[in-house]
Amino acid sequence: MTSPISSVVLGFLLCLLCVLNDQGISITVAAAKTNSRVHIVYLGERQHDNPKLITDSHHDLLATVVGSKSLASELMVYSYRHGFSGFAAKLTEAQAQECAELPDVVRVIPNTLYKLQTTRSWDFLGLSPHSPSSNILPSSNMGDGVIVGVLDTGIWPESKSFNEEGLGPVPSHWKGICESGEKFNATLHCNRKIIGARWFNDGILAEYGQPLNTSERTEFMSPRDAHGHGTHTASTAAGSFVTNVSYKGLGHGTVRGGAPNARLAVYKVCWNVLGGQCSGADMLKAFDEAIHDGVDVLSLSIGGSVPLYSDVDERDGIATGSFHAVARGITVVCAAANDGPSAQTVQNTSPWIITVAASTTDRAFPTSITLGNNKTFLGQAMFTGLEIGFTSLIYPESGGLEPTATGVCESLSLNKTMVSGKVVLCFTSLGRRRAVTSASAAVKEAGGVGLIVAKNPTDGLYPCSDDFPCIEVDYEIGTRIVFYIRSTRYPLVKLNRSKTIAGKPILARVAYFSSRGPNSAAPAILKPDIAAPGVNILAATSPLDSFVDAGYVMHSGTSMATPHVSGIVALLKALHPNWSPAAIRSALVTSAWRNGPSGLPIFAEGSPQKLTNPFDFGGGIVHPNAAANPGLVYDMGAADYIHYLCAMGYNNSAISRLTGQTTTCPIMRPSILDINLPSITIPSLRHSITVTRTVTNVGDSKSVYEATIDPPLGTMVSVKPNPLVFNSTVQKLTFEITISTTHQMNTGYYFGSLTWTDRVHAVRIPLSVRTEFLQHFADGL
Ligand SMILES: *[C@@H]1O[C@H](CO)[C@@H](O)[C@H](O)[C@H]1NC(C)=O
Ligand SMILES: *[C@@H]1O[C@H](CO)[C@@H](O)[C@H](O)[C@H]1NC(C)=O
Ligand SMILES: *[C@@H]1O[C@H](CO)[C@@H](O)[C@H](O)[C@H]1NC(C)=O
Ligand SMILES: *[C@@H]1O[C@H](CO)[C@@H](O)[C@H](O)[C@H]1NC(C)=O
Ligand SMILES: *[C@@H]1O[C@H](CO)[C@@H](O)[C@H](O)[C@H]1NC(C)=O
Ligand SMILES: *[C@@H]1O[C@H](CO)[C@@H](O)[C@H](O)[C@H]1NC(C)=O
Ligand SMILES: *[C@@H]1O[C@H](CO)[C@@H](O)[C@H](O)[C@H]1NC(C)=O
Ligand SMILES: *[C@@H]1O[C@H](CO)[C@@H](O)[C@H](O)[C@H]1NC(C)=O
Repeated sequence: MTSPISSVVLGFLLCLLCVLNDQGISITVAAAKTNSRVHIVYLGERQHDNPKLITDSHHDLLATVVGSKSLASELMVYSYRHGFSGFAAKLTEAQAQECAELPDVVRVIPNTLYKLQTTRSWDFLGLSPHSPSSNILPSSNMGDGVIVGVLDTGIWPESKSFNEEGLGPVPSHWKGICESGEKFNATLHCNRKIIGARWFNDGILAEYGQPLNTSERTEFMSPRDAHGHGTHTASTAAGSFVTNVSYKGLGHGTVRGGAPNARLAVYKVCWNVLGGQCSGADMLKAFDEAIHDGVDVLSLSIGGSVPLYSDVDERDGIATGSFHAVARGITVVCAAANDGPSAQTVQNTSPWIITVAASTTDRAFPTSITLGNNKTFLGQAMFTGLEIGFTSLIYPESGGLEPTATGVCESLSLNKTMVSGKVVLCFTSLGRRRAVTSASAAVKEAGGVGLIVAKNPTDGLYPCSDDFPCIEVDYEIGTRIVFYIRSTRYPLVKLNRSKTIAGKPILARVAYFSSRGPNSAAPAILKPDIAAPGVNILAATSPLDSFVDAGYVMHSGTSMATPHVSGIVALLKALHPNWSPAAIRSALVTSAWRNGPSGLPIFAEGSPQKLTNPFDFGGGIVHPNAAANPGLVYDMGAADYIHYLCAMGYNNSAISRLTGQTTTCPIMRPSILDINLPSITIPSLRHSITVTRTVTNVGDSKSVYEATIDPPLGTMVSVKPNPLVFNSTVQKLTFEITISTTHQMNTGYYFGSLTWTDRVHAVRIPLSVRTEFLQHFADGL
């Protein structure tokens, strides 16, 4: 992330040199770094309803700083005027400072660049776009009438996944537009599926210089997707049905989005520079327009990097943009990021966002390895090329290779005459992408025809991306193959093509790369919220995607998990148009699968035999049919978000500007533990604590719920009142949960749950508790 920013700055440097020609180059570099960058001038909630007046006031304000209206127009990148008020402009540090001192300005912050959340970790476990089983698909009319906005790399409109067959007219609440541009004709390319398509690149152009340097990868100055990521996420959320799709023969079947009748509003904010970059200024503009356009759900498979920004920091275009969207009832779904399995790597952690982790599902691509002694082992690969009949097999230590060749995948140094035409076995302790990619390159280079990689089975899988067989096995199978090689003079091996198997025998896991909690910005706010399939997701892509096969591809990442949840939210919106974003999130979290089929627990990749906990997947793996009828919801509205902002310690002026209402936090700030989340996370429990929650009955008006408690290890948990009795006049009840510990020591987190049941519904929230006695000693010092 740092190098792109400095190269961007160099773009401006050339211009600055002509102005500041009496300065030495090093000074100019320093000046350039602080000068003429895109800044976001944030004015909080809009003060007028007339967008024209708002934009005029932005120009006036900027003119007072830069000296003239014409210069102000030149420097203005965007005026934000629908969801909130503010603008993005190219400003020097001094001008930014001056702006910041104006009375109407909340703050001025430099623009931020984001990246796409794709890993391309071709895990051997695969899945199709997760079906929200047939139950709620028909009752929600497959999401018809709901508009899903996607902020991403744009769209490939010719893909079959965006056909409009059977779709009714464009929903009447749609107020957005389709914009023509390079290789994108709005008349031809928008239809009743793609109802909106726009692009925002003034921010990225201002950062990277104009025109965009597309010497490395193609790019289109239009909504057209040159990358593939946006086409993949959009088709996963709301793609139409397409039959007879596979990826090189694997995973053959029908592809569709989660809400096949929902409509797509495409906001292209990520551009094909340095692997995919998205500017905070462009994203804020897209949020602003999407709010105006009438989208119902916003899907963002985008993240930044740690450390996180605070929720009131507009550098995080996602946190502040999403606040305004959620305040208007738009559900915002974001990727948790791909920095797992380390703890505290989850991103997009604001409590108004639904943050999505990635899981595998119940499909795999076993690949058989048959040795010359006729023993067969199953490895993991996505090998779709021609079967390799019995051929020589070598393990470099035994093959008369150069002294440096040790059989370690990441440092193979192979002798052509020894390897040509053969299959090579190597071992890696890293088990990561680099080992596999470097070993396959070395073997190919030396004329080898295949590779078997023995690796730690808990590591994520990164198979080769083409038809070269890179078959992954665990150390046990790897060792048995070594024993065979050592036992015979002419070791042979036969490699079959990968097969697709699906169903019961394969258990879902939380993916290796999926970012984990706790939330590093606010540990008491559980993140991620939910997991969804994000490994080997088959969906539409751009023909410019280097992995494409006939318009489709398998990609992995929390980027792929996010649109699964967005599609499911579209179905829930169709069923329950009046549910708030918080109610929808609660329904997803409290009904999620914490166990696999037949009640077996779900494992998390990344460490051996580790069962999942809420920091891996929040409430669990999304269970759409149950989410449609959750019984009770932990709802939240404006007051709850203000409670959160006060509890986080933000000052009154920052909060007032963000929320658009004068807010005075109580002198005694409210407790963050009392925010009405569908989870309870206590990062530091001393002796005993009581927290409150409020549930709203969305099931039968007359019902009685009883609590079932699974206390975290070493704690006692009680709830009152219990049971909760709802009748026609009482639909909302507040209860208290008291958690106490007898641990007089520092521990890690322990986990449990609180479940309200009425014999029809089980409304479960996760409990995560850590006792923290060191803090106690620190306080006494
Ligand atoms: C866009 O397509 C329409 C319909 O085919 C055509 O009439 C129009 O000329 C096209 N516009 C451009 C700019 O190519
Ligand atoms: C564009 O990018 C390429 C590759 O990164 C680089 O070699 C080239 O110099 C760049 N061109 C300009 C005009 O910056
Ligand atoms: C399915 O697709 C394959 C490859 O594209 C094609 O050969 C086959 O005829 C198609 N089958 C049907 C039923 O359309
Ligand atoms: C392996 O199986 C084949 C065919 O079944 C047979 O011809 C061959 O002798 C077997 N080889 C060994 C080593 O058992
Ligand atoms: C490769 O191995 C062969 C056979 O052991 C040997 O004759 C040859 O010199 C080696 N080549 C190199 C470049 O080391
Ligand atoms: C490998 O493929 C061959 C021919 O396609 C098939 O006969 C054989 O059963 C396969 N072996 C395994 C172990 O799947
Ligand atoms: C409020 O907080 C912001 C940072 O969030 C800070 O820049 C500002 O100075 C604070 N204002 C007051 C009045 O303390
Ligand atoms: C609902 O319950 C409340 C509290 O128990 C009670 O006061 C009220 O009369 C009940 N209403 C009906 C319609 O039963």
